[in-house]
This record gives sequence, C-alpha cells and structure tokens, in this order.
Amino acid sequence: MRMYDIINRKKHGYALTDDEIRFFVEGFTKSEIPDYQASALLMAICLKGMDENETAVLTDAMLHSGDAADLSSIPGVKVDKHSTGGVGDKTSLIIGPIVASCGVPVAKMSGRGLGFSGGTVDKLESIPGLRTEIGSERFRAIVRQTGIAIIGQSGNIAPADKKIYALRDVTATIESLPLIASSIMSKKLAAGSDAILLDVKTGSGAFMKTLDDSIALAQAMVSIGSRSSRRVMAVITDMDAPLGNAIGNALEVEEAVDTLQGHGPDDLTSVCVELASYMLLLAGVAKDIKECRKLSQGAIKSGEALNKLHAMVEAQGGDVSALERGLAKAPLMTPFTAATSGYITGMNAEMCGMASLALGAGRARKEDSIDYGAGLILKKKTRDRVEVGETIALMYTSESGRFRDAKESLSSAVSIGDAPPHPVKTVLAAVSEQGVTML
Ligand code: URA
Repeated sequence: MRMYDIINRKKHGYALTDDEIRFFVEGFTKSEIPDYQASALLMAICLKGMDENETAVLTDAMLHSGDAADLSSIPGVKVDKHSTGGVGDKTSLIIGPIVASCGVPVAKMSGRGLGFSGGTVDKLESIPGLRTEIGSERFRAIVRQTGIAIIGQSGNIAPADKKIYALRDVTATIESLPLIASSIMSKKLAAGSDAILLDVKTGSGAFMKTLDDSIALAQAMVSIGSRSSRRVMAVITDMDAPLGNAIGNALEVEEAVDTLQGHGPDDLTSVCVELASYMLLLAGVAKDIKECRKLSQGAIKSGEALNKLHAMVEAQGGDVSALERGLAKAPLMTPFTAATSGYITGMNAEMCGMASLALGAGRARKEDSIDYGAGLILKKKTRDRVEVGETIALMYTSESGRFRDAKESLSSAVSIGDAPPHPVKTVLAAVSEQGVTML
C-alpha cells in the first residue's frame, strides 16, 4: 500500500477502505509516514469529507494507537463529559461535582488551554497545591473514595490524535467534521467511561459557527459512540458570547465556586444544570430529564455539590482553605470602558478569549507559562445598556505592558448599537441516537 495512492483517491472524493485508514494512522503514529504526506491527506479529507464508516474506522484506529483507561474497578456507571471548547467555559468544575454528589462517579481526563480557548487542567492548577498529573492507580482510588477526580490526559491516550491534531493546527485542517469528530471521540472512548455527554458549542467562539453544523458534528459523534456500545448524547450550547462573567483561570475557579453556592451568573448556571442533568440521565439515575434537573438543582441548593468540589480538591492535594478565602487575582487592574452609549449588541467570544490571552491567562505557544490570576471579569454582557465611559470589563494582569493588546482585542470584541438584539438561548438542542430535540 502506498500513501501516494491513498492521498490521490481521497483527492478524487473516493471513500477510503478500512485498511487504507489504518495504514495511514499506524504509519503516521510510528513516524513512518512523513508530515508532508499526512498533511496532504488531511487537506484532502477536509475538502472531500469522509462518510460515516470512514469516520468510525479513523476513530477506532486512533483510539487503538495507545492505551485505553480501565475504570472497571470503580463501581457504577461512569459518566464523562467533553466540551468542544470555548471561552469562559468552566462547566467541568461545576457539573462534575453536581453529578458526583448525586452518586454518579466522575473519572475525568481534561486538557490544557491552547490559543484563545481555556482548559480545565489549567483552571484547576490555579488552586495552590492541586495536582492534575496523577497515576492511574491513584486516580481510580480518588474516584472510589470521593466520587470524582479530574486529571490531565495521560501521556499515551490516543497518541495518533496528538500527532494528527498538532499537524492540523498548523496546516489549516482543524475545521473538518470527520477530523474533529474522530479526534474527540478517540480520546473520550480511550478514557474509559461508560457514558459520555458531549457539549457541542456553537457560535463565534466555537469551531462550529452555525447551529446546523453543530448538530451535524453532534450526530457524527453520537453515531461513533453507539457503534462502540457506549451511551452518548450531545447538547448544543451557545458560544457566541463568553460563558459566565469570568475569563481566566483563578477568576473562573472563583465563579465556579459562586455557582456551586447558588449565586453564579444565569447563563452559566442554566448551562451547567442542563449538562449535569443529561449526565444523570445517561447514568440512569432518573427516568426523565425533568427529574434529573430537580436533582441537579437540589445538589447546588443543599451545598452537596460544593462539598464534592472541596473533597476532590483536597484529594488532589489542593488547598481548600485558599479556595474558601478566594484565589488571588493578578495585582494590576484596569477597566475597559464603553466608547459610546447604547446597547451591547455582540461580544465576540473568540476576541474576548484573545484579550484574556493577551493579559497572560493563556499560552500562545505550548511552552509558555500562565499568569493564573490574569483575565477578565465582564461587568456587562450582550443586550445590557451602557453609557459612555461606563465599565464593561475589568482587566487583570501582572504586567502593565499587556493591557494595550487586551484593550485592542476587547474593542473589536464588543459592539454597541441603538437597540438590544433578540435574546439567544444558552442551551439550544439535545442530540441522541433517537434524533434531535430542539430545547
Ligand atoms: N477538540 C479536539 O479534541 N479535537 C478537535 O479536532 C477539535 C476540538
């Protein structure tokens, strides 16, 4: 078999055979296929697509390129959640504890942020002492003891995806439905949970900018999941504007704690209750989603979900009293103010993420270090009225030179007009094997 022929066949729009797909994944993972041929194939896939079978085989080949986690020693239906990425998305820190406090074990592997989009591991590491690099034995023991652990992805989970993703990142081949679906599902299936809830973001801060594209991605992932005999559902949530008011690691942890105390922002709270409820439904805790919503809301109200977060932080070596006192914000703060009076008509999530990155909250390159207390607190959101000079956001950083770029990004993120736009729903649809339900 020759890589040249595989590229050529995909270039002409033919479906690749199972053997051809496995030849590519195995050869590229072992570095027997050079980057230039892998890039050409990825671009051909981007332009010509893949059918359902090709996407499933690609996922399976990537999943079996490394280790698969074995969670069988943890009793109960283990439920995982994956978000396709976003700005201000601290949902894992909130829904993991909600679900665990309802008796469903959460054994979660999460990623770091890259570019404008944040990552749960970085957020957790802003809690003093907390470790996310934990061996698999200890990881399982924490889940058995406390019901929840969130750690970084172990080195050998889906290594093919790691290599392919890195190449896609620099060859403009990220935005491809079969490549995104297989990348996410290979990692999630290898992470070993029995059920998976996918939070597919839609809008300006998401890979999928339209609802139709987001539903198509969700359907592709649900179909891969059911071929692997896992329970998989997807919820489509809005990422046109940042989620909640905090963007940046320690700032987001604070907001997650506020939300678990019952006074989080409405958009964040409603997305979290919905996601947690679908996780409970997948775990079979209650028969219908209404019952699951009651359980999720009850876990916040009773304080049980917050107790679970504390238990997890402690088990992972973190300082719970620092969390209770409030994590430190970066020492320098400047407000970003309205240049004109009117209504906020849009707050581009990606540009807000870029502003937070400019303040030091993220990495422009993998090797960059993070200023954990840096980021933004939004004081106004889309549809709010602002007067000229009024504060829209507070910008936090440890280096004053960073304010200029952040301000520039925020200026292009925020648009102000004469009338407020129509409200948008934060949770738009649920996708299961049975079909799509608009919410
Ligand atoms: N997240 C992933 O893990 N992979 C993609 O391709 C896109 C988002």
